[in-house]
This record gives sequence, structure tokens and C-alpha cells, in this order.
Amino acid sequence: MIRVETKGCESFVDSAKYEAYVAKALDAFDVLKEETGAGNDFLGWKKLPRQITDRELSEYEAIRDKWARKGVDLVIAIGIGGSYLGAKCVMEALSHNFAKQLKRKDAAEVVFAGNNLSEEYLAELMDLAAERNVACIVISKSGTTTEPAVAFRIVKQYLESHYGKQEAADRIVAITDAKKGALKTLATQENYASFVVPDNVGGRFSVLTPVGLLPICVAGFDIRALVAGAVDAHKGLEIKSEKNPAIQYAAMRNCLHTELGKSTEILVNYNPKLTYVAEWWKQLYGESEGKDGKGIYPASVNNTADLHSMGQFIQEGSRIMFETVLHVENAQRSVVIESDPQNLDQLNFLSGKHVEHCNHMAELGTRIAHIDGGVPQMSITLDKVDAFNLGGLLYFFEFACGISAYILGVNPFNQPGVEAYKKNMFALLEKPGYEEATKAIKERL
Ligand code: PA5
Repeated sequence: MIRVETKGCESFVDSAKYEAYVAKALDAFDVLKEETGAGNDFLGWKKLPRQITDRELSEYEAIRDKWARKGVDLVIAIGIGGSYLGAKCVMEALSHNFAKQLKRKDAAEVVFAGNNLSEEYLAELMDLAAERNVACIVISKSGTTTEPAVAFRIVKQYLESHYGKQEAADRIVAITDAKKGALKTLATQENYASFVVPDNVGGRFSVLTPVGLLPICVAGFDIRALVAGAVDAHKGLEIKSEKNPAIQYAAMRNCLHTELGKSTEILVNYNPKLTYVAEWWKQLYGESEGKDGKGIYPASVNNTADLHSMGQFIQEGSRIMFETVLHVENAQRSVVIESDPQNLDQLNFLSGKHVEHCNHMAELGTRIAHIDGGVPQMSITLDKVDAFNLGGLLYFFEFACGISAYILGVNPFNQPGVEAYKKNMFALLEKPGYEEATKAIKERL
């Protein structure tokens, strides 16, 4: 089970103030549990861990096995935002750091598209496709998002011209709304295998739906362990208590923000495999809380690398931030530092020590230095980076996000601000129906 520790905030926040935010978090917990808050028609994610059936998981495994029988070695997963980051973060966390270079082929390689509009990216993706045996998962809850639609048009045309229309259809799975949207219409018309994104689950809360689980499964990772970890976390997080880690995390981050004016939270990791967990977390908290002129700006660093770039700013720059450290207790591989007869690097004092011990000391030393430099510290501890612990961590962050946003006083489950750029882009691209907007924006150029 995830553990939250707030000791590194004690010298910044007095306990009475923190307790007041714990009380607010307990109230917000009730709002989330009783489903009486803003956006309460988007709370389907809460029960997902318990509702996922063996049959559903078997369906994803059947797609994986069918494509394996065809010799598929490249799956292009098309999606953006919540339709991409959950799968990406789990795959990065569970992959061997050098999987690509080692060319281990126990499952198809999953690459992502539709998360940018770079022409070079798509052209180079097609270079890769030309050398591989390809299938595609196209994901869009709304079914109308431009970036994935552009990428899918190109990938679909490639698959149809390369394998023929019928075989292409057997290599495409669509994940979208049950009833509406252009992707739903296309999937029905072309007879693609399809899965539904539940109506009451928003994109950034959808990692435990087919949106996350199918790509993770075809990439060869253990979705059953991931779900089991979320189920386990769900049991603990459901308990209304001051010791509930979601209450502690939500309470402290709001306390630091409101009482001390800390406007930025930096999620810190000391394991490169967690880089994309931070990217997923940034979307979850950024899109859920950043509205109505409110919110804590979610940032991240990957240490110890970033201690040599961002470390200076965090230690001595403007005091706008607090840090939340993802502490991983156990490394799953072992590398011991050996003694060297010459000792020119003067590291013999470390002989016999595990590298992870040095990593932990770097983490501890940094935390103390940053506290001394005026940066409050929280930590979230997980036992190790495996599918079970990751499932628990993702569910923990989702649950805590709901509580935190309710303390902040915003609807965590909408994202009205995302539409502004789309309107301008369509106006500039002269999309039919945007004539007025096109005229207005061109006058501003
Ligand atoms: O969290 C969200 O709702 C968004 O990030 C969406 O996932 C993102 O905009 C993609 O939307 P869609 O899946 O409808 O294409």
C-alpha cells in the first residue's frame, strides 16, 4: 500500500493549520464518496478496479494473441492526452531500460501517434511501419479530436494499401464512445473490433479502461497484476480516516498552496522508469485543477540527472514550490560497487555498497538540502516499480486528485480551457463553419 509522509513540511506549516486541511479533505472525501460534488456524472473511474471482469481482460488478451499469430511486431497506438498517457506511463515504468537495444521480442512493440501534429513524426513513423508487421489501436473518447484523427487517416490508408481492406480491418481496434462520434461511425462502418470508453470516465481517469489496458496488454505487460494493485489500493483508500494517504496528500498540498502561497508542485523521481508517471500525473492534476484562476502548477524532475540542471533553481531560486518525492523502497536488480586497487576515483569507501543505497542517500541528502533551502517536502513510498504497485499508485493519484480539487473548489472532471486552442487552429485552417472566426483571427495576425 502507498504511504504518504509529510514530516518534511513540519518546519513550514504548524500542525493546527495542517489539521484544518485534513478536516477539509475529510469533507471532500464525503463529497467524492457520496457523489454530490461538481462533475459527479464523471465518477465511473472510482469503481473501475472492482468492476473489471476476468472476461474483459481475456478479451484484451485475445486481441494480443490474435495479432501475435499474424506475426504483428509493431502496434501503433493512436491517441492524445488521457487517451495516451496512461498506457505510455505504465509501459515506460515496466519496460527494461534498454528493451529497444536488446531487441527482446516476447511481445509486439507499441509506439504512439496522434499525440502531436508533427509531419516529420508521421513520416518517420511510416518509415518504421514499412519495415514491420503492423496493427493499430485508435483511441478517442469523443471520436472527434484532430490529432488522432489525422494520424489515423494516414495509418489506416497505409494498412489498407499494404494489407488490403479486409485484413487491415482485422488489424485495427477502435476504442471510443458507445454511441457517438466520428470514430464510432467509422468503426461500425468498417467493422473494426471495438471497445467502449464508459460515458462516466473522463480521458485522464481512463487508464484502467480499454484505453490503457489494451495497449498495455498487447505490449506484453501484466494487466492482471496492474488491476490487482488498483483493487488493493481501492480497499485502503475507501476508508475515511486521517491516516488515509489520499487525505494526507490532498490536505498537505492544499495547505502548502493556500497557507504558504506555494504555486508549484514538483513531482520528483530517482528512477528513469518513472519519468512518464510524472507526465501522466501532470495531466491528471493540471487538467483537473487548473481552472477558474486556481490550481497548483504540476511540474516534475528526474533525479539525479535534473539535480545538475534544475537543482540550482530548486535550492536557491524563487520560493514558489514544494516537492513530492516518489520514493521507491526496493530496486529489483542488484549492482554492487566493487573495490578498485588504484582507487583513483576515490570511491573505495563505497565498496560493497549497492548502487541503490547511493541513490537513496542522494535522495535523502537532496530532501534535507531542499528543506534547508525553503522547499517543503512530502514523499509517497512504493515498495517497488512493478505492475501491482503501479496499479496502486495510479489509482491513489486519481482518488487524491478528486479530493484535492474539491478542497480547492473546482470541478475536477471537466476541461473547458482545452477548447480555446482548437477554435483558433480550426479558424486558421479555415475549417468550414469557422468563417467568422477565421476573419477575426486573421485580422489579429
Ligand atoms: O482528460 C481528457 O479528457 C483529455 O485529455 C482527453 O483525453 C484528450 O483531450 C483526448 O480526447 P479524446 O479521447 O476525446 O480524443
